Amino acid sequence: MSSTDTLTRKADFPGLVAVDGREWHYLDTAATAQKPQVVIDAVTNALGRDYATVHRGVYSRSAEMTLAYEAARRKVAGFIGGTEDEIVFTRGATEAINLVASSWGGANLKAGDRILLSVLEHHSNIVPWQLIAERTGALIDICPLTEDGRIDLDAAQAMLTSAHKLVALAHVSNVLGSQLDVRRAADMAHAVGAKLLVDGCQAVPRLTVDVAALDCDFYVFSAHKLYGPTGIGALWARAEILDAMPPYQGGGSMIDRVTFERTTYAPAPQRFEAGTPAIVEAIGLAAAVDYVSAIGLDVAERHERALAAQLRDALRGMNNVTVFGPEDTAGIVSFAVDGIHPHDLGTILDEANVAIRAGHHCAQPLMEHLGVPATARASFGLYSDENDISALLAGIERTKRIFG
Ligand SMILES: Cc1ncc(COP(=O)(O)O)c(C=O)c1O
Repeated sequence: MSSTDTLTRKADFPGLVAVDGREWHYLDTAATAQKPQVVIDAVTNALGRDYATVHRGVYSRSAEMTLAYEAARRKVAGFIGGTEDEIVFTRGATEAINLVASSWGGANLKAGDRILLSVLEHHSNIVPWQLIAERTGALIDICPLTEDGRIDLDAAQAMLTSAHKLVALAHVSNVLGSQLDVRRAADMAHAVGAKLLVDGCQAVPRLTVDVAALDCDFYVFSAHKLYGPTGIGALWARAEILDAMPPYQGGGSMIDRVTFERTTYAPAPQRFEAGTPAIVEAIGLAAAVDYVSAIGLDVAERHERALAAQLRDALRGMNNVTVFGPEDTAGIVSFAVDGIHPHDLGTILDEANVAIRAGHHCAQPLMEHLGVPATARASFGLYSDENDISALLAGIERTKRIFG
């Protein structure tokens, strides 16, 4: 993406202007992405002009809204290489993983079964498995990382046994930006009869994802990291797996017939969408998918990898800065400046309209592995450019001067 293209992109995002009217150097896209005007407009129209419930109304506005909601499901499915009957709308990746852990895990895990996670997982891909392990007596193993911060699949290969029923790994680390070879992980999991869940939160906005080619069994992501609204995400699951899963939550919309004696359930994916769904958010997500697709994930990936490489090089050229993670990262760079807590760095950068994330990034086991309480993290999006990097570097130099 040329810098002219990026400038054009910046203009699409009203959130990129700071309160004082100056440019806002937003380097926290891995936490949540800014929204393009087309998404804001889609949400506004869905909430205003077009608003009605779905799946129930006999009037035309509701029928149209139902069509739009189901079209969003089709769009999301196509975007990641699945089919519409394999997409469950959830509140986000967190709920999607909890759904799989509770429903699939509750039905398929028993005492002594094993689950394989990795050191770099987000808490969302740790705690739901701990909860279901407690419920079922299953055990959790942790795959180590390579020295440069990738999930060590050679180690995973050596650890996996026929007792493993599930492997759950991040496609792209939200802290290190390292990328998983999903196809290899899937082959390894399947070789011992385990299923593979991929946490695609940081991959879906940055890489072309094709669940069929990846050959995983579950894939989850959140819309708000893909330039869409909060409050919605998706679980993709292989149709035959989803069909066999028991309900997650009970309520309206997920039933076939309810009597006090016996209730029967709707087929998947409706079986997993109890209650009035996130109608407006689904339509916003569809608009985000259109926006990102028009630019192209291949373009996004090249753009963000190049910015990450440029930032890593520049940080390495600075004194007293440690850069974490592998050389080639998908648009996310974590670092630490000797003697300056990441929170102090983040606060001083904020004075220069540079927004980074500072903290444990919901990955406390990874922080422990890195031997730090927190890192500073810069993460890029479609709208990021070299000016953002320059502003960050200048801000780091200034912070170093302030701290002497
Ligand atoms: C890798 C990863 N997994 C899971 C999540 C959880 O996403 P959400 O909070 O949108 O459910 C995040 C969000 O930061 C993430 O980066």
